[in-house]
Amino acid sequence: MPHYDVVVLGAGAAGMMAAIEAGKRGRQVLVVDHAKYAGEKIRISGGGRCNFTNINATADKGRDRFLSQNPRFALSALSRYTPDMFIALVEAHGIAYHEKTLGQLFCDGPATQINTMLLDEMRRAGVTLVLETGVEAVGRDESGDGFELRLTTSSITCDSLVVATGGKSIPKMGATGLGYQLATQFGLRLTETRPGLVPLTFETGALERLKDLSGIATDAIVSHGRTAFEEALLFTHRGLSGPAILQISSYWREGDPIAVDLLPHQDAGEAIRAVRKANPKLQLQTVLGGLLPKKLAQLLADELALPGMIGDFSDKKLAAVEAMLKAWTLKPVGSEGYRTAEVTLGGVDTRDLDAKTLAARNVPGLFFVGEVVDVTGWLGGYNFQWAWASGWAAGQAA
Ligand code: FDA
Repeated sequence: MPHYDVVVLGAGAAGMMAAIEAGKRGRQVLVVDHAKYAGEKIRISGGGRCNFTNINATADKGRDRFLSQNPRFALSALSRYTPDMFIALVEAHGIAYHEKTLGQLFCDGPATQINTMLLDEMRRAGVTLVLETGVEAVGRDESGDGFELRLTTSSITCDSLVVATGGKSIPKMGATGLGYQLATQFGLRLTETRPGLVPLTFETGALERLKDLSGIATDAIVSHGRTAFEEALLFTHRGLSGPAILQISSYWREGDPIAVDLLPHQDAGEAIRAVRKANPKLQLQTVLGGLLPKKLAQLLADELALPGMIGDFSDKKLAAVEAMLKAWTLKPVGSEGYRTAEVTLGGVDTRDLDAKTLAARNVPGLFFVGEVVDVTGWLGGYNFQWAWASGWAAGQAA
């Protein structure tokens, strides 16, 4: 039976990085993936331009930007493999990139450049990659120290096994629950998993009211409890999307309301009073139309149902308008789920992993890296940085 020092399950961002680093240490590494191509999520990421890291995805700045039952868990790997280190790799491969906004770095050209870079690095490190190969069974080998894997093509053994099979998002692209199954099989705990960075949906009645807004985008501050994101909000025919919504979706829970500030950094009361002073005869819809996209203004005016001229509005009515503009409360009923979620929240419980190496505490030789672990970043390159950093950390130890 062929034997490898390290077998990595999953040729995604985290798995390829782990393989490269283990290979560079002289370990004989095999990467196994059931997909036809490596790095399929990298290929489609960032709208095809791969938002490959965020300059703020560092241990000190990123403290509150990674969700986990133990948000401190990610800091060790993030401090050992920093965005600068990945940027240096990108530059060494001559890949042009730019900062879009909020520290988000994107390729100037296609995302496939990142895959080509990782595949090149794997080749240089002597890593073997087998695609279109499934995993049928995994167990301890005869010695009890290593692992035996029954693949769809052959059986192999290895000393270290790195599980980098990702989360549940986008099953159409090959996401499976294999990582969670293996964690359970080897006695590691799992935290609850749910879709993250995902559009939110509404019940039919609310959708009916919002349907005319489909396609409209506006800058907003969207909040859930004390967590708030200021970015674009997009109305869709299913509900709400756009970066502000994707971000808040990772914090939102079924039944919770979200509040939308439609006039970020503006004093809504002042803005309305200024219009009232200049044009007291205007109807509310027209007043709001001067501040917001017209169809949105119409919807808010309909919801407020305050007829008459703005000049006649009492202070109470003005306060109601102001409240609507600064904290429009919406109650999503659900999310689009794993079908479109960019990430899976939750996963392998970090209590059962070593933060420095990502090794299972009670199963020598077993590692979990990337999205399968209960660490989820904000939108904007944080999730890839976690994939690189956790893969890198395991690659030093596997
Ligand atoms: P990943 O899912 O990448 O890889 C897992 C691998 O395991 C896959 O190749 C899969 O085929 C394989 N696998 C799964 N089950 C298997 C099985 N049973 N047998 C064999 N192989 C198996 N993040 C970011 O930072 N910037 C961005 O721009 C984006 N953009 C983006 C867009 C879209 C549409 C999505 C869905 C996601 C993003 N993300 C992102 C998130 C990012 O893609 C994600 O966090 C990383 O890909 C996670 O890397 P992993 O290597 O952990 O899993």
